[in-house]
Amino acid sequence: MKKHVVLYKKLSPALLARLENEVDVTYIDDPASDGLARLRQALPHAHGLLGASLKLDAALLDLAPRLEAVASVSVGVDNYDIADLSRRGVMLTNTPDVLTETTADTGFALVLAAARRVVELATLVRAGQWTASIGPRHFGTDVHGKTLGIIGMGRIGEALAQRGHFGFNMPVIYHSHSPKPAVDQRFGARHCTLDELLREADFICLTLPLTKETTGLIGAREFELMGKDSIFINISRGKVVDEKALIHALQTGQIRAAGLDVFEREPVQTDSPLLALDNVVATPHIGSATHETREAMARCAVDNLLAALRGERPQNLVNP
Ligand code: DGY
Repeated sequence: MKKHVVLYKKLSPALLARLENEVDVTYIDDPASDGLARLRQALPHAHGLLGASLKLDAALLDLAPRLEAVASVSVGVDNYDIADLSRRGVMLTNTPDVLTETTADTGFALVLAAARRVVELATLVRAGQWTASIGPRHFGTDVHGKTLGIIGMGRIGEALAQRGHFGFNMPVIYHSHSPKPAVDQRFGARHCTLDELLREADFICLTLPLTKETTGLIGAREFELMGKDSIFINISRGKVVDEKALIHALQTGQIRAAGLDVFEREPVQTDSPLLALDNVVATPHIGSATHETREAMARCAVDNLLAALRGERPQNLVNP
């Protein structure tokens, strides 16, 4: 008899066919709200789950006594209680690697957009306010040659360093648990303390995963250490930052600008003060959101889940 998978992320026809070749599939649209009742009904039969952006809490897991594996279509695993899944004997997999370059592209898009005021000035053009050659009031700041500070030197941090070093001739400094000699050598990068990075970097890019230790890591004290011309970029998770402190830093000119792909609460509230600030570039959590990369992530998740349900070790096991 085929095993049963509850799918809560739409797959391309090719990937759905690949999944259905080996397992029975129940598809739930919008499991966080409208589909929640259907999800609850389907969980008792589920051997596998595949999806993203759903907080899989103990109450939901209690409904799924047959569950063997959860394949998340994401690299971040902050929606899961990993220890609880391990206790229940449930494998968790994620989708690293395939999204690294695309997410770094998003980070660099925010660096450029925030520094050169791309969104603010493009909006001005659309509003018919480009009536004369622009002057210093609308000038941005250079990116090339400035110091790129990366907090968290994982795969995405490295891909950012590569862009900054080779593409924009930027000195790279980074903060991570320990120095990475290969990174230092390849990008002429320098490992430093968090405080040193905050003081020295022109662009401060956050790439850390959200964990107990990183929650609220960047708060009022950290923004005070940044220079008034510094630009803060967040492509990791909103909760790594104290958003009130960020808003204060932007409103009072403690920092120059911010490029934000992630927020404390998502979707960001339409009345968030962040959205009223010209010096904020806000995007809707698009780090990995290209056709090619989202398909690659979904393929990776399908492969991980099928391997787990066959009794093999999936390639991207988070809780070995
Ligand atoms: C990831 O893969 O973790 C992205 O941020 C989407 O959640």
